Amino acid sequence: MLRLFAGLVLLGLLLALLTSWVLDRYDTAWHPKRSLGDPDRSVQPPYPGGDLENLFWFVQVSDIHISRFHDPKRIPDFQRFCTQTIEVIKPALVLATGDLTDAKTKNKIGSLQHEVEWQAYHNVLKSSRVLERTKWIDIRGNHDAFNIISLESVNNYFRKYSATQAAGSFHYVHRTPFGNYSFICADATLTPGPKRPYNFFGILSQMNKLETFRSESLSSNQSVWFGHYTTSTIVSPSPGIRAVMSSAVAYLCGHLHTLGGAMPVLHSRHPTGTLELELGDWMDNRRFRVLAFDHDLLSFSDLTFDEWPAVLITNPKEAQYLQPGAEPIRRIRRSTHISNLNGTHNEL
Ligand SMILES: *[C@@H]1O[C@H](CO)[C@@H](O)[C@H](O)[C@H]1NC(C)=O
Ligand SMILES: *[C@@H]1O[C@H](CO)[C@@H](O)[C@H](O)[C@H]1NC(C)=O
Ligand SMILES: *[C@@H]1O[C@H](CO)[C@@H](O)[C@H](O)[C@H]1NC(C)=O
Ligand SMILES: [Zn+2]
Repeated sequence: MLRLFAGLVLLGLLLALLTSWVLDRYDTAWHPKRSLGDPDRSVQPPYPGGDLENLFWFVQVSDIHISRFHDPKRIPDFQRFCTQTIEVIKPALVLATGDLTDAKTKNKIGSLQHEVEWQAYHNVLKSSRVLERTKWIDIRGNHDAFNIISLESVNNYFRKYSATQAAGSFHYVHRTPFGNYSFICADATLTPGPKRPYNFFGILSQMNKLETFRSESLSSNQSVWFGHYTTSTIVSPSPGIRAVMSSAVAYLCGHLHTLGGAMPVLHSRHPTGTLELELGDWMDNRRFRVLAFDHDLLSFSDLTFDEWPAVLITNPKEAQYLQPGAEPIRRIRRSTHISNLNGTHNEL
């Protein structure tokens, strides 16, 4: 009991520290002292025009927290997300950035991997047939690793029930006729996974692997990094997580949810220029995000499940989120049209 109490006090202190730190840091402004990307590339064609060329889009969902005890609508809503929402949006890929399951005890204090929660997640993927309709990339979050002694443990249900199955960082290249796009997962989830609340922070140990992914990704048109943890909750050896992803246009993550409603939007920018876009949770807020690369410029829109129409303006992209260190921003001036993606669901 005393240990639990000490743990909770520690967690409370950390949260307070973190909140003051993130409130100070969550700012997406571009500081003019940063170096710009290759200016020649930035001005070269293709330029955004009136057609849907040089464009693809994808979706992120995070902190789903499939639970056997709480919020009985969470699973059927997720099922409808995988059918209706994905059907309307038709993303090229979906990133599910961790905390697929809740893995808590009924009183919400302890932690435990429940096979039924994993089976429910798996059943949604199967019965919705979403894996046949898009590339579904799911990764572990801290809840998915509670109380797991090793990756070989029988209670490492991620290995059995997720779409990705293998833990660890990886580099996936989405290939299109107009370019190659790197998606790099930085997996900072701990193995062995301690009990709650001892894995609020993640640790990245595979820096060499990440360095390799980074250099591979330099031949792609653009790269996006993603993971469960915000970089403020990752402990990493030199040169550090932010330095290793500095050539990326954005880092997509979850983990902080909306800080209990205190911070509905957690978007920031690293000193290197990379955007860090935390996404609110599916668990309580039913958030998801649609992102697009339009002529190598990244745009995104944070949306709520079942609120239609879903609209994303891809050109001109929102000025606040320009990443001149990675994006060919001078193309925007040469573009001739406003482009948008939109979709709605009509009840029949
Ligand atoms: C992607 O990169 C290739 C090679 O640099 C380039 O030819 C192509 O135009 C780029 N695609 C877009 C959409 O800018
Ligand atoms: C994408 O990568 C493949 C394999 O490296 C390469 O052959 C192809 O030219 C690249 N496509 C573009 C548009 O750069
Ligand atoms: C929705 O998208 C289509 C295809 O891009 C476009 O033709 C149409 O004008 C858009 N609708 C609205 C209301 O913007
Ligand atoms: Zn979570």
